[in-house]
Amino acid sequence: MGEGDRPQDGGGGDAQSKGARMHGPPRRVRDTALSGAAGAPLEGIRVNPIVVVLNGPNLNLLGSREPDIYGRETLADVEADCRRLGKELGLAIEFHQSNREYEIIDWIHAARGRAGGIVINPAAFTHTSVAILDALAAFEGPIIEVHISNVHRREPFRHHSFVSGVASGVIVGCGTQGYGFALRRIAKLIEERSSAPAGRQRA
Ligand code: DQA
Repeated sequence: MGEGDRPQDGGGGDAQSKGARMHGPPRRVRDTALSGAAGAPLEGIRVNPIVVVLNGPNLNLLGSREPDIYGRETLADVEADCRRLGKELGLAIEFHQSNREYEIIDWIHAARGRAGGIVINPAAFTHTSVAILDALAAFEGPIIEVHISNVHRREPFRHHSFVSGVASGVIVGCGTQGYGFALRRIAKLIEERSSAPAGRQRA
């Protein structure tokens, strides 16, 4: 498999294969992502909820791609920041980037029943992909959509997002800082869901 055949992961290796690595002090949570066969939360299990951070096409070029729009931070910098904050928040971060739509869809499928939340910057697929919308709609946890640039101040074709309709929140135009905001929000939503009565857990 050549370099070009491999999904990018922001310089941190194959984050997915690392699975639910434990980061920081384990916390007591009731996470529906870790539920019994009947869907009942496994109470009192000590885990850090997994949060999957997904990045769409061309985001592997962050730092050198249109820096006046996207800034100078690389995707590896963003990944390192996410992992640092994830540790602080008690989240197990899985971080991926791909230029291929199907890989993003596969990562969303893999998050089902396993991850507590998804942070996604679908990049250009935001404006084109019903397939990513459908995959996200099949994910049961909270989703936060992130855009580094303020898409609403840019070309009209960037004003529509297929993803926003299934997102719990959207963070736009805050630069790469937006990923941190998204993780803090996801942590809060996961916490709220873990303490909500069963049946009222959709964010
Ligand atoms: C982007 C905005 C999209 O319109 C664009 O196609 C991207 C990046 C952002 O983060 O600002 O690639 O999602």
